[in-house]
Formats: sequence, structure tokens, C-alpha cells
Amino acid sequence: MILDRFKLTDRVAVVTGAGRGIGQAIALAYAEAGADVVCAARTVEQIEDTAARVRALGRRALAVPTDVLDEAQLERLVRTALDELGRIDVLVNNAGGSPPKAALETSTRELEAAFRFNVSTAFALTRIAVPRMVETAGEGSVINISSVAGREISPGFAAYGTAKAALSFLTRELAQDFAPRVRVNAIAVGSTVTEALASVLTPEIEKTMVELTPMGRLGSVEDVAACALYLASPAASYVTGEIYGVNGGLTSLNMRMPRAFD
Ligand SMILES: NC(=O)c1ccc[n+]([C@@H]2O[C@H](COP(=O)([O-])OP(=O)(O)OC[C@H]3O[C@@H](n4cnc5c(N)ncnc54)[C@H](OP(=O)(O)O)[C@@H]3O)[C@@H](O)[C@H]2O)c1
Repeated sequence: MILDRFKLTDRVAVVTGAGRGIGQAIALAYAEAGADVVCAARTVEQIEDTAARVRALGRRALAVPTDVLDEAQLERLVRTALDELGRIDVLVNNAGGSPPKAALETSTRELEAAFRFNVSTAFALTRIAVPRMVETAGEGSVINISSVAGREISPGFAAYGTAKAALSFLTRELAQDFAPRVRVNAIAVGSTVTEALASVLTPEIEKTMVELTPMGRLGSVEDVAACALYLASPAASYVTGEIYGVNGGLTSLNMRMPRAFD
């Protein structure tokens, strides 16, 4: 049955930023597909909530308080997953982000912070997890949550766009390093309804975004989770080094930011 290839029965997935938004939807999708899920983020109540929802779907879940910016906590996250659940099959580097900001108002420190949050943390956790995936599961799948802003250029996205572009390129590089044992793919997410997006939305901005999106709506977290499920599953066993767009057909960014000299 082709549908069986989309199942994650008895696999173990680690998802960062699993307390809300896209990460939570991915955790729940994986649980529905049969996986046990390790939920990592900083806010304990939120990861406990996601873990409880995973358990309600009949799967095991851990809520491991983690700040991805602290490498010792990443080590602890992987150790806890292995101690409690015995293996790691899937890693989703979802925690990330940074708000759009005019280039001339972005300090070098902010550029580096965007790079660290979106690229270095994913690199660090992948380096820690991949050898243990191979050791415990024999193979694995890493999914990086990138952005359409890492593919298309626009004023206001010097820091975030450059960081996500680097994450997408890192995805392709690591796929080469880790083939044939561990697949590494990314999702170039478009505007998706989450708290992070809500923090920069006004009704006018939302109206413009929808108008500029070929599919005529904003994305849902389940749109992204469906792709993350495919990439994690045996259905994608011949797919690595790819950046899959889940962005309503965008070929340019749908958020209009002023140029420096407008
Ligand atoms: N929403 C969009 O339109 C959109 C578009 C393109 C790409 N993306 C990407 O999708 C990913 C998720 O975004 P989202 O919209 O779902 O965001 P969100 O709703 O704000 O959720 C972010 C999650 O990441 C966690 N997180 C934040 N900082 C963290 C840290 N230092 N360590 C560990 N966890 C941390 C948050 O929990 P705590 O704060 O409790 O730690 C939360 O669980 C990001 O990489 C973002 O760049 C989103």
C-alpha cells in the first residue's frame, strides 16, 4: 500500500519549537502517523501541552525544556531522547525566525544573531543528533524549516532572508555529507498563520499579503506539517538535499517593506 510509506510507526522524532505554531503542528502530525515525539522549546507549559496532545493520540511524548541557543541544552535534549525513547529517526530544526527590518537599521550584531538563531543552532543540533541517529536507527531524516524569504529577495529582509538562505544552502551541503544514511531537506515556508506572523500583521498588511499570494490565502500550520510528514517518512526515501516550497506559489515576497531611500 503506497499510503503505508507515509507512516512513521514506532519512529522517534525530535522537534524544536514544538510548543506552538508550525513546530506543534509537525509534532501532532508525526504522532498521528505513529511516531513518538520529543518536544523542545523554552516555555514549559507549551511543550507540556503539545506532549499531552501527542499522548492523547496514543504515542509516547517527552517535553524537554530547551533553548536552542545553548549547545549544552542541545546535548541534553539528544541525551534525554535516547535515554527515554532509545532512538532518534527524525530531527526537525524548526525553532528560528527574526522580524523584517530595514537594512540600515539592522546592526551587524542583529545580522549575526539572525544567523546564529536560524543557521548555527540547526547546524549544532544536527551535528549532535546525526551520529546517534545512525547508531540507533541506522538511518534518519533531518528537516530544516526555512523560508521563502531565503529564496526571494526583498527590502527589509537582509538579516532574516540571508540567514534562511544560508540554512537552505546548509541543507544541501549536509545532504551531501550524510548520504546515503541520513537525508537532509528543508521547507521554504511562506506566510503561515502563527503567533510569530500575527506579531507583524495588521489587517492592511494581511490583505496585501493575500492579494500577492497566487493561491489567494495565507498558509496554515497543517500545510507545512503535511510536507514535513512526507519528508520524514519512507515515502521520501529517495529525496535529499531538496528545498520544498510550501508558500502558495510565491515567486516574490508578499510583505512590502520600504526601501532605504523611498
Ligand atoms: N509563520 C510564518 O509565516 C513563517 C514563514 C516562514 C518561515 N517560518 C519559520 O517557521 C519556524 C517556526 O515559526 P512559527 O511561525 O511557527 O513561530 P512561533 O509560532 O513563534 O513558534 C516558535 C516556536 O519556537 C520556539 N522557540 C523560540 N525561540 C526558541 C529558542 N531560543 N529555543 C527553543 N525554542 C525556541 C517557541 O517557543 P519558546 O518561545 O517557548 O521557546 C515556539 O515553540 C521558524 O523557523 C520561522 O522562521 C515561519
